[in-house]
Amino acid sequence: MNVDPFIAGLPKAELHIHIEGSLEPELTMALAERNKVALRFGSIDALRAAYRFSDLQDFLDLYYEGMRVLLHEQDFYDLAMAYFRKAAAQNVRHAEIFFDPQGHTGRGVPFKTVIEGLTRARVDAERRFGITSALILCFLRHLDEADAERTLDEALPWRDRFIGVGLDSSEKGRPPRLFERVFARARGLGLRAVAHAGEEGPAGYVREALDLLKVERIDHGNRALDDAELTARLARERMPLTVCPLSNLRLCVVPDLKDHPLRRMLDRGLTATINSDDPAYFGGYMNENFAALSLSREETMTLARNGFRAAFCDEATKQRHLEALDDYGLSGA
Ligand code: ADE
Ligand code: ZN
Repeated sequence: MNVDPFIAGLPKAELHIHIEGSLEPELTMALAERNKVALRFGSIDALRAAYRFSDLQDFLDLYYEGMRVLLHEQDFYDLAMAYFRKAAAQNVRHAEIFFDPQGHTGRGVPFKTVIEGLTRARVDAERRFGITSALILCFLRHLDEADAERTLDEALPWRDRFIGVGLDSSEKGRPPRLFERVFARARGLGLRAVAHAGEEGPAGYVREALDLLKVERIDHGNRALDDAELTARLARERMPLTVCPLSNLRLCVVPDLKDHPLRRMLDRGLTATINSDDPAYFGGYMNENFAALSLSREETMTLARNGFRAAFCDEATKQRHLEALDDYGLSGA
């Protein structure tokens, strides 16, 4: 895809990327061979051809199947390093990365294996590409809260390796209120809180994420627009939404990108940001997501600025990124 040079050169922050969703078919096949994991797809093309989804669950079934090739610390390192290489080439300067430990511990892969591989890649990526990053541990909402509690217990020896907790996986019928206690415990440990809400679930789930989980960002949040009072509150509270255009298209959350709610979000004063979600599965990384919506330069700058403002990095790092962005906006491309 040919991307507008202004978007390509734009310094960007990515706040909604599932590292397991950056597993490209080529790496899936290579790891399957390296780890002797049998796949039901005979080739890279056959695997890629399966990337047609009718809804979130249809995608998640393949997403969990794909991650079975991840077994060793080096696999998690290779996965994250491949993401950082692509992100750096697209001028992503800061990334806050979700990982799904229960997708691995549930298959017998120790938490330590996952966190050590991802952390080693983060450290190397900052040294090699200058990209700053952090990890956010997501609880799988199709599992119960007791499982999330055990996952948090298991993660505590590595408390300094991740900055927050999130909530992802199948949304319908799994409201945020089911995870109120584990989020309260995580926040008590000084962890930041975010949650997927209003992707397929109703506006009420966005409200629960705010009121019960006390999140600092909403992941997706599209359905919040169904509720005018909630939309006004999100604007008033400057609550960031991590919006993922190509994901919304591929998971049939929106029928067509021309109907994507992003512009309505901006018109209503919401702090929207652009992100890739699961780039290997949805046809694009950050540049392609920015390019998907025919934005003006002013809108593009606003969205990029929102990304850095909504990041959980320290104030000095944030200011450094914002100044670089403003310099870029003044010089153009
Ligand atoms: N896990 C990975 N991608 C997801 C998405 N778009 N929604 C919910 N859970 C996910
Ligand atoms: Zn997501």
